[in-house]
Amino acid sequence: MTAAWLLVGILAGLAIGAVLAVMLRRRALREFDLALGALAALSSGGQPERFYAPQGNLAEREERFNEVLQQLGERLDALELDRMRFLAIIGNLRAGVVLLDARRRVQVINPAAERIFGVWAPEVEQTYHLAMTHTYALESALDEVEKGEVLQLERREAGRTLQIDLAPVPGTGGTLLVVHDVTEERRLLEVRSQFVANVSHELRTPLTVLGGFAETLLDGAVDEGHRQRFLRHIAEETRRLSLLVDDLLRLAAIESGRERPERARVDLLELARAVAERYGPEAQARGVALGVEGQSATAITDRDRIEGILISLIDNAVKYTQDGGHVTVRVSPVAGQAELTVADDGPGIPAADLPHIFERFYRVDRSRQRATGGSGLGLAIARHLALSVGAELTVESELGRGSAFHLRIPGMAKATDA
Ligand SMILES: Nc1ncnc2c1ncn2[C@@H]1O[C@H](COP(=O)(O)OP(=O)(O)OP(=O)(O)O)[C@@H](O)[C@H]1O
Ligand SMILES: [Mg+2]
Repeated sequence: MTAAWLLVGILAGLAIGAVLAVMLRRRALREFDLALGALAALSSGGQPERFYAPQGNLAEREERFNEVLQQLGERLDALELDRMRFLAIIGNLRAGVVLLDARRRVQVINPAAERIFGVWAPEVEQTYHLAMTHTYALESALDEVEKGEVLQLERREAGRTLQIDLAPVPGTGGTLLVVHDVTEERRLLEVRSQFVANVSHELRTPLTVLGGFAETLLDGAVDEGHRQRFLRHIAEETRRLSLLVDDLLRLAAIESGRERPERARVDLLELARAVAERYGPEAQARGVALGVEGQSATAITDRDRIEGILISLIDNAVKYTQDGGHVTVRVSPVAGQAELTVADDGPGIPAADLPHIFERFYRVDRSRQRATGGSGLGLAIARHLALSVGAELTVESELGRGSAFHLRIPGMAKATDA
């Protein structure tokens, strides 16, 4: 009896155990299925994919598990590839790129932005943007951007102009800043408008003079002697105007760099003699002794441009040197380069003006200028010409003692080449 009960007990125990085991296995499988479902969702890019629970079979689940693992691996590879592409793009952008999180802390900063703000990425990452940007105007701009606006602001500081574009980053509450250093663009704009103002001013003076003479002549009450004089003035002003326009066009052509410089063998001594000869009569008329000296030197360069520079320098030296003065053009080889020097014992240039004389329209003594009639473009053109052939044009001058302009031309041909 007892044995029978014992048997029943054991059987019942076994049955309950079996039922429990089945229940536990079902639960474990359900949990496993849930975890697998979540993994599958991740591997398909976070989209909750329709997860099918394989019926009962453990082997089928195992197969599915491996499949999901593989998908997940591929997805991670793709993400890594995206990350590398992103880094390559922002790493090579000329613009600075900064990504701020919702709390305005720096999340990402590219090398251009590091350069612009003068910071090192690891030092500013995770810090509040002001530590890097020092731009308080960004605070109110960020208020707007965080409401969904796209904004642009410009910041001028310590001689630099930065342009900052701000755009919200959807879904993160963060902001993307794109920063351009526009200092050079702004400077060029300034130079250009200054240039236009100068040109207008230069044109207005002769135009006023021309208008005045023309009106007086139209009035008719002018005797023949005055009529002739007025007409001569008109002719002279017109000549000056067209020289000015020629110079401006020349400057624009050199600056645009459209025409490439020639490269030919140029005998500099011969060229200097030719230009000096052309200025002989004018020098003589002004009582200035003009001479050429030095050694023969041959450079591989653009003959017309070197000639243009020489004309400008000799023209100045003859024009500004007083009666009885001397102008010397010297040709000499210096350390593999050829040097052309135009020296005079004229009035010299004050030290304060010296750094400016290559600027457009710059003249040392404006009152004296009306007599000599220059527009102040000669040296600006000469320096541009020099730059275009890789030559260097410098000046030394002492007030009351004279000036010397040096032109160093690279590409001197060796003596054996000659
Ligand atoms: N050899 C020189 N001696 C003294 N002053 C000079 C000499 N060369 C140039 N300068 C000064 O530098 C200024 C600029 O010269 P630049 O040749 O550019 O203009 P410019 O001679 O006045 O006019 P442009 O050459 O256009 O006719 C001159 O106005 C003059 O004051
Ligand atoms: Mg000149």
